[in-house]
Amino acid sequence: MAASAETGFIRFCHNDRCALPYVEAVLRESHRWHPVFPMGVAHAVVDDDIYEGFHIPKGPASHLAMSRNEAQYPNASEFVPERFFKPDGKLNVDATSYIFGFGRRVCAGQHVANAAVWIAIVSCVQIYQSN
Ligand code: HEM
Repeated sequence: MAASAETGFIRFCHNDRCALPYVEAVLRESHRWHPVFPMGVAHAVVDDDIYEGFHIPKGPASHLAMSRNEAQYPNASEFVPERFFKPDGKLNVDATSYIFGFGRRVCAGQHVANAAVWIAIVSCVQIYQSN
């Protein structure tokens, strides 16, 4: 984080990511609230299955079942970045990585995507400071 010599406003770069937990929470909440691929890339379970005690019903899978799960995300339709903080003020372990899929077909661009969304968020913060 460095102040611009011309404007005096802070300029952010990717090295600042660890120092900006609220931006991280906004990034996670953006992914959760309105995933780019709300239904994921079309996948379906061909038969009912049980995996580690969880029943997986036959049929298509949807990220919205996870990102809008009220048990995990109370008031799931609301944009609340604070939900990603523990009571001690630190970020929790939920990085909402499920929006990128799972396993061998997981999104190959997830780190590029996260970096791009992160820099877009801090760019908005930077402009907001400037005004
Ligand atoms: C927020 C932005 C993005 C989201 C939410 C997203 C999400 C996904 C999802 C859900 C899949 C399917 C995973 C599966 O089949 O289970 C996928 C696949 C893929 N994504 Fe992304 N993606 C994003 C951005 C990107 C970007 C920026 C790139 C490239 C730079 C990229 C490259 C790919 C590729 C190559 C695959 C296919 C992987 C494979 O089938 O082996 N994605 N993405």
